[in-house]
Amino acid sequence: MLVLSAADIARVFTVRDAIEADKKAFVMQARGECVVPLRINFDVEGSGGGQSLYMPAHVKGYPAPGGATGVKIVSVYPGNAAKGLPVVPATMVLVDEETGLVEALLDGTELTRLRTGALSGAATEVLAREDARVGALFGTGGQAASQLAAILEARPLAEVRVHDLDPGRREAFIRARRAECEARGCRLVAAASADAAIEGADVIVTVTTSAKPVFDGSRVAAGAHVNGIGSYTPDKAELDPALLVRADRVFVDNLAAVLAEAGDLVMPIKAGSFGPERVAGELGSVLDGSLPGRSSGKEITVFKSVGFAALDVVAAREIVTRAREAGVGRKIDS
Ligand SMILES: NC(=O)c1ccc[n+]([C@@H]2O[C@H](COP(=O)([O-])OP(=O)(O)OC[C@H]3O[C@@H](n4cnc5c(N)ncnc54)[C@H](O)[C@@H]3O)[C@@H](O)[C@H]2O)c1
Repeated sequence: MLVLSAADIARVFTVRDAIEADKKAFVMQARGECVVPLRINFDVEGSGGGQSLYMPAHVKGYPAPGGATGVKIVSVYPGNAAKGLPVVPATMVLVDEETGLVEALLDGTELTRLRTGALSGAATEVLAREDARVGALFGTGGQAASQLAAILEARPLAEVRVHDLDPGRREAFIRARRAECEARGCRLVAAASADAAIEGADVIVTVTTSAKPVFDGSRVAAGAHVNGIGSYTPDKAELDPALLVRADRVFVDNLAAVLAEAGDLVMPIKAGSFGPERVAGELGSVLDGSLPGRSSGKEITVFKSVGFAALDVVAAREIVTRAREAGVGRKIDS
């Protein structure tokens, strides 16, 4: 069995690799080649509020001739912060398709960061205007750095405005990322308000824990592309319904999951603001050419994601293959 730490993963799997892995998962999802059973989720009694989640998936025929199978184990233990432990620890288990034996254990936190950033990277690459130069990032938590890296990989943005309700967190994020962004020709600018972040922005990412819309959808510029990454329950929405009404094309990562879980769409559909046909389809269908994406520089496009386990399995498969080739990681007897 191969064990891969966060540092091992970073050695063999780049932001570009993560975007390409997500694109593969999107296409397989749109073609019905992913088996993604509902995740198992329960409260752990006696743990002081701990929750345990199990996210399995099987991807058919990738890599050929077999497939890839695995499960991501994620825990949410709010009390861990006081113990100096991660609040949302995660581990990815990749299973050998032929034997059913566990093939590899990967740091699931790093895997999640990379594959979640890559959601925005892939969607921006496919849907944003080619000449997009101004970005806006809402949220500067654990997922934000990989979101920023992935949109910069997708488009040569000259400026990204950064907004967070917590100004201290926003400033710390900008300090930590400034040099890396400047090396890519991109200026990070602190945006004190949501309006300041949005004005004239070409690529917008929301990756917050907000239950309510984080910016005014009526202020989004024509031609903008928006990635909604944070909200994942039917009662929470980061995206303003006004944006979803204004948008020319709305895409999702997984249609069934988004229509069941994303309050951004569930709530306005329930309120009768629009029907599920507001969603043009899955990003994977645009990637495989069966659905048109953006058709003009004036259109507003939206991509809403709640994530799905096949993204983790495809990324894990790619990482393990690269790590074996490079001799990275620790082998242990199983
Ligand atoms: N789509 C996916 O596949 C996927 C994967 C992983 C995480 N997520 C989700 O992404 C979200 C962010 O994750 P994280 O680990 O970075 O969280 P985090 O708690 O580390 O950071 C969230 C940040 O959002 C900020 N925030 C909250 N409301 C805001 C608002 N209205 N405007 C601006 N900033 C605001 C907070 O101050 C905080 O800094 C979570 O909801 C998480 O569940 C989605």
